[in-house]
Amino acid sequence: MLGLLALGLWMTGLPLGLAKLQAYNWHKWVGLAVLALAGARILWRRRHPPPALPAAVTGWQAKAAPIVHWTLLALLIALPISGWAMSSAAGISIVWFGILRLPDLVPGDRALFEALKTTHYGLSRLLIGVLILHVAAVLYHDLWRRDGVLRRMWPLGGS
Ligand code: HEM
Repeated sequence: MLGLLALGLWMTGLPLGLAKLQAYNWHKWVGLAVLALAGARILWRRRHPPPALPAAVTGWQAKAAPIVHWTLLALLIALPISGWAMSSAAGISIVWFGILRLPDLVPGDRALFEALKTTHYGLSRLLIGVLILHVAAVLYHDLWRRDGVLRRMWPLGGS
């Protein structure tokens, strides 16, 4: 996600040319891989519910934590789908990694393309905001409260 954010921010500023086209393709391909992984993650989550919040997380923080987590998960789905639909609305079909032709999500339409571009832009800014919030919260807990929240996020860290 961080790589896609950086690539997205960088590629839009490139002059029209082969490098820009290649960057757009890689952005789309990896973004759609994220969509597939997000689907797998959601299925996995249904069978493996997260551990309860640590006792140190109470009050408004306990209410805010699931909202931030669900927003992150929703963005994992909404960002790639809005990008895919934007590409379809622009009349550009996606051939995933140059191998698999994907169906167009919407018909080619200039106004729809502009709306989806604004949506993709807005969602990417929301992602940046939520990521900053999330990292700040983790650092606050780990460095200030020292309650082991960061350790829980590593693989096998909660057990
Ligand atoms: C999954 C995570 C994704 C993230 C985090 C992401 C992020 C971004 C960002 C930050 C930008 C630059 C926006 C701007 O500042 O103007 C961008 C642009 C773009 N993204 Fe994504 N993106 C994702 C997935 C996708 C997918 C799956 C597609 C298409 C299949 C896609 C298609 C595009 C296109 C075509 C642009 C350029 C729009 C323009 O020309 O202004 N993105 N994306």
